[in-house]
Amino acid sequence: MVQVHRSPVNPSDLGVLTGHYYAPRPLPHGLGNEGSGVVVKSGGGEEADGLVGKRVGLSVITDTGLPSTIWGEYTVVPVSVCIPLPDDVSYEQGCALFVNPLTVISFVDIAKAGGHRTILHTAAASALGKMLVAYAKRNGIEVIGVVRRASQKEELLKLGTAYVIDTSVDEGKWTSELKRVCEEKKCTLGFDAIGGPMAAKLMRLMPPQTTLRVYGGLSGQREMSVNLGDVLFSEKVLAGFWLVPYFKSLSKEQQQEMFKKAVQHATDDFSFNIAHRTTLAGLAKDLSRYVNDMTQGKLVICPVKQ
Ligand SMILES: NC(=O)c1ccc[n+]([C@@H]2O[C@H](COP(=O)([O-])OP(=O)(O)OC[C@H]3O[C@@H](n4cnc5c(N)ncnc54)[C@H](OP(=O)(O)O)[C@@H]3O)[C@@H](O)[C@H]2O)c1
Repeated sequence: MVQVHRSPVNPSDLGVLTGHYYAPRPLPHGLGNEGSGVVVKSGGGEEADGLVGKRVGLSVITDTGLPSTIWGEYTVVPVSVCIPLPDDVSYEQGCALFVNPLTVISFVDIAKAGGHRTILHTAAASALGKMLVAYAKRNGIEVIGVVRRASQKEELLKLGTAYVIDTSVDEGKWTSELKRVCEEKKCTLGFDAIGGPMAAKLMRLMPPQTTLRVYGGLSGQREMSVNLGDVLFSEKVLAGFWLVPYFKSLSKEQQQEMFKKAVQHATDDFSFNIAHRTTLAGLAKDLSRYVNDMTQGKLVICPVKQ
């Protein structure tokens, strides 16, 4: 049993709250996918007993069969979804170590396995996008970021993004820019968080033999149209990415290695902005502050004051 200290609100939580989440969820299930806290009680077993009194990061994303919720004062989870936090990682820094960092590590592993030196990434000013720039750079991979506001472009360039395309300018301008940059950089791997018309455009614009992995539905649209010629003659592939099955497909050693990297870089590559803090009672009222400006930073729920 963990006393929850911090838990972030992620876009996937909004999907569940609004009833628009795409993945099947076993009922009953609670809210909140990840957080941090202190282990207050063990249900038995050497490993769980050893964690009593320890500060941990925890998540249910790696085991969606769990009915427990993290948005509460206490939660009950298996020992396998808890990572002990080092002393220099605060509850706030350790509350979002799973959903975004593990996805970023997966993207970089996928790029490396396919021999890609450049990744195209949309909604690139997201918390995940900033983590990707830092962690990809550490691994010798460049990111071409796609954003929808000029201010996001400047910020991402400062962080070290190789090239940033701003879709708020004239459509003809940004689409020809995206096509040219992808060709120049031989970029044939894309990760798209938007879906809908954006995914369709990327399939048209990216070079032959591109694989586009759609991993989010920020557009709110379920349909994506794909040109037959792109798939048939240009050998482009439209696929998805969801952390849950990807993580489950890895060996125990590979999973532990990913956890290790997430904790190791908690205070650098995987750090994130917190724009607002709230309580469990204030969550419903404060949710719109996050929804109205997601790029500014996360809304973090604080069941325990610090
Ligand atoms: N498939 C998986 O396993 C997996 C795992 C982790 C995360 N994700 C996905 O990763 C994405 C980023 O997550 P996060 O926690 O980093 O998000 P975040 O920090 O809350 O930021 C969301 C970003 O998306 C942008 N955005 C929102 N709606 C948009 C739209 N319709 N078109 C273009 N941009 C839009 C926002 O820009 P504005 O400020 O301009 O609104 C903001 O920069 C989400 O889609 C999430 O579901 C998927």
